[in-house]
Amino acid sequence: MRTDKERNPSVLEKAFRVMVTVGFACTFAASVGAQTAVEVIKDGKKFFQIDGELFPALEALGPPPIPRDNPQRVDEDGWPLKDDPKVRLGELLFFEPALSGDGSVSCQTCHVQGAGWALNSAISRSYPGQSHWRNSQSVVNAAYMSKLFWDGHKESLETQAPSAAKGLAGNGKAPMMAARLQMIPEYVAMFKEAFGSIRNPTKDAWRAIAAFERTLTSTDSPVDEYLRGDEEALDEEQIRGLDLFNGKARCIMCHNGPLASDEKFYNLGLPRQPLFSKIPKNQIGFRSQTYTAGVPEEVFRKVKFDLGLYFKSHNKEDMGKFRTQPLRFIEYTPPYYHHGVLDDLEEVVEFYDQGGGDDYVLEDFGFSTKTARLKKLNLTDDEKEDLIYFLEGFTGEEIFIEIPVLPKPPTRITLR
Ligand code: HEC
Ligand code: HEC
Repeated sequence: MRTDKERNPSVLEKAFRVMVTVGFACTFAASVGAQTAVEVIKDGKKFFQIDGELFPALEALGPPPIPRDNPQRVDEDGWPLKDDPKVRLGELLFFEPALSGDGSVSCQTCHVQGAGWALNSAISRSYPGQSHWRNSQSVVNAAYMSKLFWDGHKESLETQAPSAAKGLAGNGKAPMMAARLQMIPEYVAMFKEAFGSIRNPTKDAWRAIAAFERTLTSTDSPVDEYLRGDEEALDEEQIRGLDLFNGKARCIMCHNGPLASDEKFYNLGLPRQPLFSKIPKNQIGFRSQTYTAGVPEEVFRKVKFDLGLYFKSHNKEDMGKFRTQPLRFIEYTPPYYHHGVLDDLEEVVEFYDQGGGDDYVLEDFGFSTKTARLKKLNLTDDEKEDLIYFLEGFTGEEIFIEIPVLPKPPTRITLR
């Protein structure tokens, strides 16, 4: 049971808070029970201190940012509206297999609503006949990210979508996809309504899909409600888990701020994905992507893991580094990490408790890029349970929409 003392800050703590609002930064370890987190208020904002560094506290999520060059309609609080013509078009196109090479794959094929708008296989499928080489990410809350994909190589939903439709996922060619859309009268009308014309069908398709994705947000998790001030939204165990998250378990060092992600890149020393050495299709996906990224030959010959951020930067310090994943909605999207190697939150917490694993960059190349932030945590069994229970609190209601009926080309056509 929590005592009243825990619930209400002491007079001394209140005095500290007053001091900081007049401009002092001050530190106090949460002073009761077995709490571990060290809270600091600086310039009116809350941080947690670990190893002498400050990390922004978690915050509830507000409406997603909307780029100026792809406006969409929002309500008075800034939340994107579902009955915007652009969003309605984007919703159809998200389910539209015409936006792929052989006309059989849509965004929804790998971002399935019943699987948290992701896929529950460790490694995603690709276009027919091949395999992708990474785990499919949820598109829920992708609207908040400024670095998309596991290695963060795209800056916006508008630039992410074409690389999905054209690359290993969809294998589509732009002129083919454009001609297919222009053939369908309902689409011609909808593009006109949303964009004024259908002159740039693919470019505008990506913009419409991005607008639709901005309506796929999860901001109602118990953790969000708690951070908005509803103290009842998390129970005692979860509040202890939150304290561990911010302190002893060190999660806040990377999973921080409103996104629960600093959008920076780390190598955690994850286990290798055994599928790459067992299943030819998986190895082909992996090797072909490594080659496509223009990796120098000496690296290409040696590498047996996903190079991550290195694909973009070609700096060897970036080998094996990936973007910190946001944590909302994760109940629906196991297995976890860029190659789906950990199956559930028990395995995740066990992994961090060990201080992460061996570094495959070190094994293959003789130098390490593993982050120094992961250390053995010595969590007790009860603490592990509290932390897992807290992590579960990041997941709100599942998101389902009615599968749209897609318009078809007319049965009789004339050559234009
Ligand atoms: C064949 C499977 C497949 C298809 C089809 C597919 N995706 Fe993905 N998607 C993935 C995989 C796998 C990843 C992670 C890839 C990576 O990091 O390189 C991903 C990542 C994403 C992300 C990044 C999320 C984040 O947190 O950064 C977004 C957004 C996304 N997809 C949207 C789309 C859209 C829009 C379409 C349709 C135009 C689409 N996807 C089609 C498999 C697919
Ligand atoms: C050093 C930075 C760092 C710290 C500390 C850290 N993480 Fe992570 N976390 C990451 C990165 C980076 C990824 C994605 C890595 C990848 O896929 O290779 C990730 C991924 C995850 C995922 C998988 C999410 C998904 O969608 O696949 C979970 C769950 C997670 N972290 C929970 C935690 C918890 C709980 C803690 C504290 C015990 C923690 N993390 C500490 C950086 C960190």
